Amino acid sequence: MKINRKILIIAALSVPVTIVAATTNSTPPDEQYTNLKVLPKNIAPKDLKKIMINDFEDGLGVGCNFCHAEGKEVGELDFASDAKPEKNIAREMMRMTLGINKKYLKIKHPMIGAEGLVVTCNTCHNGVPFPDGH
Ligand code: HEC
Ligand code: HEC
Repeated sequence: MKINRKILIIAALSVPVTIVAATTNSTPPDEQYTNLKVLPKNIAPKDLKKIMINDFEDGLGVGCNFCHAEGKEVGELDFASDAKPEKNIAREMMRMTLGINKKYLKIKHPMIGAEGLVVTCNTCHNGVPFPDGH
């Protein structure tokens, strides 16, 4: 009985601690995102945001919701969800873009969003989602 009470007290005490940890944003970067398959899993939030805004939104001339599905709340997006096919097409496009840079342009360690890329989303898309005009 004594042990059980101790556990209860520890459990009760640990609740405010986790809330504080969440609000002070002490979560390590590698636990921020749950569904990255092409980008590095431990990518810094500012680097991911730069890619989503500069390379994807501006490169294709679309909003976040072109690739990201609606969340549970109205007007909210579920960024980790793969429900929209455009997201997986974008992953294939990322792999293709990395492949072109590596194979034909001899970039050693190509990374989406990196300065050193020669061919980017924008090279083909140039601000439109369907560069072939269909
Ligand atoms: C052209 C498609 C496209 C657009 C537009 C886009 N994204 Fe993404 N986003 C992706 C893909 C693809 C991934 C997954 C990348 C991977 O698997 O490595 C992703 C991943 C993410 C993630 C990580 C989710 C997780 O937990 O795994 C966040 C957050 C995110 N996007 C936010 C945004 C925001 C904010 C915008 C608008 C400013 C945006 N995205 C626009 C395609 C897009
Ligand atoms: C070498 C040229 C090229 C590059 C580089 C490129 N794309 Fe594309 N992309 C295309 C073409 C062409 C289409 C149209 C394919 C079709 O109609 O089947 C397309 C289609 C897409 C679509 C699907 C639109 C739809 O709904 O059918 C998405 C999403 C996309 N690209 C994202 C990206 C992203 C993100 C990048 C950068 C990581 C990228 N693309 C880089 C040529 C390119």
